[in-house]
Amino acid sequence: MIIITGANGGLGRLITERLLERVPSQRIGVSVRDPEKARELEDRGVRVRRGDFGDPASLADAFEGARQVLVVSTDSTGADAVHHHRTAVEAAAAAGAERILYTSHMGSNPSSPFAPMRDHAATEAALRESGVPFTSLRNGFYASSAAMLLGHALETGELAAPEDGPVAWTAHADLAEAAALALTGEGLDGTTPTLTGPEALDLADIAAIATRLTGREVRRVVVSDADYRASLLARGLPAAGADLLLGLFAASRQGQFTPVDPTLGRLLGRPTTALAEFLRTTITPTG
Ligand SMILES: NC(=O)c1ccc[n+]([C@@H]2O[C@H](COP(=O)([O-])OP(=O)(O)OC[C@H]3O[C@@H](n4cnc5c(N)ncnc54)[C@H](OP(=O)(O)O)[C@@H]3O)[C@@H](O)[C@H]2O)c1
Repeated sequence: MIIITGANGGLGRLITERLLERVPSQRIGVSVRDPEKARELEDRGVRVRRGDFGDPASLADAFEGARQVLVVSTDSTGADAVHHHRTAVEAAAAAGAERILYTSHMGSNPSSPFAPMRDHAATEAALRESGVPFTSLRNGFYASSAAMLLGHALETGELAAPEDGPVAWTAHADLAEAAALALTGEGLDGTTPTLTGPEALDLADIAAIATRLTGREVRRVVVSDADYRASLLARGLPAAGADLLLGLFAASRQGQFTPVDPTLGRLLGRPTTALAEFLRTTITPTG
């Protein structure tokens, strides 16, 4: 039995789909907070059980009989996130899993200025402490985050953000396929090399891509951290969210998301998805 958590989220659902192409549905189980939302998977023969990292008893049930558990990192940060990830790792070990896989990040680092990177490093420590063989998938920075950073720039014509550094943007679809391969034995042991897309691009490059794709100029404008923070607060973002984003720019300036690695392309046996290709599918021409 292969158990995947977070199968109602973007990455977890894609991993489940890629796995369904490789193994019989009866060998796949998903652990989700809301089983109702996974009814379609159940109809296709996938075992659906409720599992919430905040409720260890639910995980004992959701992970029952697991040979492998893939833990998808949650969308929160800080002590709660680490506690939840640690709970999931411990539940997988208690369920007798022979391998635990985890969706880490290329920037995993205990002293990163970007908070989620510290959480990933702490979770990787929990994996090492579990005593169970593990695979920590060091996923590249999501290409969907580049689309998010582009935000209103398509309407305003200005991509205003703090100074940044090049980032090896990586598509969910490629990472999901890699995770399915790792689960089916053609994969990777321990902490993987970083699994990245084909090139590292900064916001000036992204503005240029957006200009090409929409036919309307998008200008990259560098603003100070303080001005950016103030603009985020004015738009209603809580201070904690603004500080989280500033941490992203600080880590990016340090080059923490820059190195491009060939491992993902090799694993997939095809070129990885370029950011321009990804943005072409997500940007609607405005002009
Ligand atoms: N590599 C990167 O650049 C990058 C960027 C952004 C985020 N991430 C990380 O990648 C993860 C997956 O990305 P995504 O696009 O799939 O995000 P998403 O669609 O927002 O999904 C978030 C996932 O977190 C799970 N979750 C939240 N709280 C949970 C809890 N208490 N117990 C169990 N599961 C919980 C959800 O589980 P359910 O399915 O049960 O709802 C959901 O699958 C994110 O959560 C985040 O940790 C990475």
